[in-house]
Amino acid sequence: MTRATIAIIAGDGIGPEVIEAGLPIIEAAANAEGLALAVERLPYSADHFLETGETLPDEAFAHLRDDVDGILVGALGDPRVPGNEHARDILLGLRFRLDLYINFRPTHLFHPKLSPLRTDRRSDGGSTAIDFVIFRENTEGQYLGLGRSESLGTPDEVHVSEEINTRKGVARIIEAAFAWAAAQGKTRVTMSDKSNAIPFQRIWGRLFQEIGERYPGIQREHRYVDALALELVREPERFQVIVTPNLYGDILSDLGAGLIGGMGIAASANLHPGRPGLFEPVHGSAPPLVGKGVANPMATVLSGALMLEQLGCGAGARRLERAVERVVAGGPLTPDLGGTGSTAEVAAALSAALD
Ligand code: IPM
Ligand code: MN
Repeated sequence: MTRATIAIIAGDGIGPEVIEAGLPIIEAAANAEGLALAVERLPYSADHFLETGETLPDEAFAHLRDDVDGILVGALGDPRVPGNEHARDILLGLRFRLDLYINFRPTHLFHPKLSPLRTDRRSDGGSTAIDFVIFRENTEGQYLGLGRSESLGTPDEVHVSEEINTRKGVARIIEAAFAWAAAQGKTRVTMSDKSNAIPFQRIWGRLFQEIGERYPGIQREHRYVDALALELVREPERFQVIVTPNLYGDILSDLGAGLIGGMGIAASANLHPGRPGLFEPVHGSAPPLVGKGVANPMATVLSGALMLEQLGCGAGARRLERAVERVVAGGPLTPDLGGTGSTAEVAAALSAALD
């Protein structure tokens, strides 16, 4: 057995429930492929913040940076912390401080019944062909929180929010998208920006062309993000790889989740090749669902699959994906996917479906 050390930040709301349900399934798939997970649980959450005032202390950050192979997060966000300080320090903080510049968000329809689109109008006749990945830039854009407020409390109040696009930052996410596309045998990469309204974003087009030229087998296409939103609803099956700035990736990945069954089944990985990654279901802490036992553990299991992939255990990842595919087809399903199953029932079915 090889070993990997995994830090778990279960976090808030349904986070602990989906981690408790999903982690044993992820471990079982890893074990079946000769990978043992040494799991350590970290307490950082709204509860911890309210008790101690601590969000993510520097020692914990250094530990996550230096001593673990992967970080699995449940969910962060709590109505008792309306400023969301802890979530910002933990989730956005780790993305920035670990320089996890790739937010990798697969959008795969596991079964046509999960699609809200009218299958009779779909060009593929309703097969499970929606299968694209969003490469969301994860360390720049408007997310750095740079800017200023002026004339607060007066009629002339102004808030300026800066959007950062560096050559290095834009180039590396575009490069990552092309490299992945090439490795996966994909034939097209779509870059999406809003450079018709925001001229400073033209660097995206320049670098997209420059880097894309090194991948002659891959077609380049550009869509303004508003047009892409429309096309993703109308013809999602034609997209393979989408590379886009931070904020647009955030929005498009929720749109993508909506196409494949919702937030309960959408997974994501925050990556910097060669460094420990951070893996998280795209959903939030879902306060109204807490304690009801109905949270869908599939997004966590699929985020675990992305983690196993990153740990070099692609075969374990495939096991998890096949298990989700089987349970989606045969049930039980949690209410978000139209079923009446509980978190525990779905988890048990996923365990049983592991081959
Ligand atoms: C996501 C979330 C976060 C983001 C929030 C919680 C800051 O929506 O991971 O998509 O915007 O990145
Ligand atoms: Mn989001």
